[in-house]
Amino acid sequence: MCGVFGYIGIRNPLEVCLSGLEKLEYRGYDSSGIGGIFEGQIVLCKKAGKLSALKNSIQLPQISLAIAHTRWATHGKVNDENAHPHLDFTQSIALIHNGIIENYKELKNDLLKEGITFSSDTDTEVIANLIAKYYEGDLVQALNATLSQLKGIFALVVIHKDHPDQIIAAARDCPLSIGYSDQEDESLISSDPNAFEESNYNIVFLKDDEIAKVQKKSIKIYNKNLDIISKKIERLEIDIRPPSKEGFEHYMLKEIFEQPLTIKKALLGRYDEDIFFEELKLSTDVLKKIKNLWILGCGTSSHAGRIASLLVEDWARLPSSVEIASEARYRNPLISEETLIVAISQSGETADTLAALKETKKYHCPNLGICNVKNSTLARETDGVILLKAGPEISVCSTKAFTSQIAVLTLFSLYLARLHNQLSKSQVKTIFEELQEIPKHIETVLNQLPTIQAIAKKYAKFEHFFFMGRGYMLPTAMEAALKLKEISYVNANAYPAGELKHGPIALLHSQFPVVAFCAHKKTRDKIISNLTEVKARGSPVLAIAPSDDSEIKEIADDVIYVPKTRDELAPFSSSVVGQLFAYFIAKERGCDIDQPRNLAKSVTVE
Ligand code: G6P
Repeated sequence: MCGVFGYIGIRNPLEVCLSGLEKLEYRGYDSSGIGGIFEGQIVLCKKAGKLSALKNSIQLPQISLAIAHTRWATHGKVNDENAHPHLDFTQSIALIHNGIIENYKELKNDLLKEGITFSSDTDTEVIANLIAKYYEGDLVQALNATLSQLKGIFALVVIHKDHPDQIIAAARDCPLSIGYSDQEDESLISSDPNAFEESNYNIVFLKDDEIAKVQKKSIKIYNKNLDIISKKIERLEIDIRPPSKEGFEHYMLKEIFEQPLTIKKALLGRYDEDIFFEELKLSTDVLKKIKNLWILGCGTSSHAGRIASLLVEDWARLPSSVEIASEARYRNPLISEETLIVAISQSGETADTLAALKETKKYHCPNLGICNVKNSTLARETDGVILLKAGPEISVCSTKAFTSQIAVLTLFSLYLARLHNQLSKSQVKTIFEELQEIPKHIETVLNQLPTIQAIAKKYAKFEHFFFMGRGYMLPTAMEAALKLKEISYVNANAYPAGELKHGPIALLHSQFPVVAFCAHKKTRDKIISNLTEVKARGSPVLAIAPSDDSEIKEIADDVIYVPKTRDELAPFSSSVVGQLFAYFIAKERGCDIDQPRNLAKSVTVE
């Protein structure tokens, strides 16, 4: 999985591709590479490590076109050899690839038997060699023959040393966009059109094994029969502003501090005596008929889904289940035309979420995307979409997107509650007014930064943590534990507080702290009992509690206070505490906060 980019045109292909890769680094940063054609030969430069490593070492002659890649390793270690582009055995073809070739071993064995040798451990090199095997002068034909051999989902971009005037691309169930300009002689290819530098391109998206022959002045798209087909041309609004830390040390900290504003943006223009969504597209008739929800997401987005599930149950009185998207695909779900599928994804490009969504289409369920990236695959492929409007989230560890997800899901739950006659207009008004207070609550938390930093410093020495919560504080604890794991490389497990005594409590001792999220009023007395049980085993205890809870400090070693609010809205402030706690622990431990090891902002393979 990875980001692929290509350029052919009047500008310097190297510069355009490096700039494209910068915007695709969210898809992986294990290695990167660029390839082109110079004097009838393929030339390459590839480097393990972040894009900066490639930039520092790149030396290529004046190439006529370029293909470029940023990698998140699936097959083969992170090293220069496994970085893309990959060559075929004759060194005539260079190829970059996003996705996984499921039958690559079988194909590789066949090629080995034919005497072809390999220099990497990747599945990608197999594709390059297959294309070479089928090549008889026409790259489109050779690629088409190769596609019929491949199993899996992928996007491929190929060049051949004898065709310095063309880049060939193909995609199966994997996003790949081609952009071309009316004004200039240039064409671009990208996993994500948001990586194009300008917003005035005509854009086509490839799918279903379509192949594109991309040249400076023309683009031809072929179907499986190699007929030239016409495709819908889209004009997308692309945010071309370069990202900036705006004086913060890390993107993560900047994004944490943006939350009072991003939550306001999520709420803006969505209430006028009742909740409404201008862009939703799903009709009220459809939504009134739904009998249950199936909520899909991965990582942080799945935690937002868990909160949504509780909200929908409490307010709209509709049953819902939340499924990790990678599991959902292989379930035999009891869903129907009366089930609303809610697919949550910040990027809108997570392969597991997209695949699970696709799987549900055979049940004819209406579906809704909750997404931050306007032009993403999820936003384009769902019946309705609610955008977060949080602006680009650069840090791999999601912060502002999470609180915006729960803000829009809170609104959507209220909207469903109204459609299903479960809440009155005045009840919704009261809740909405309280929701409008949340940005101020978050400011109160942000003002406690020195306290949270000092507490995090104290806890930074521990290698293992339990995070616990009940009700709305359980998904909040899960999200906070994920933050800590992602950026501090510390083992943090989240448990329902009442469940700790059924096994995990055996692990506790003086070097195993417990972080307890206590802002769920309904279960407040219960979590106090759970805290005393934990204290009795000698664990240090950090509690995150509402400001009016004076008793908790008698039990916990440390307390971080959050403004009090109703249970349904409690995840906001407590989550911000979790984000800052993880941030300062990671900082204390000297971790790479914005680009943690082994991760990618958006995982585009299953
Ligand atoms: C990756 C990221 C996580 C993120 C998850 C889902 O695993 O590292 O931080 O929560 O993808 O991303 P999405 O864009 O679908 O919300």
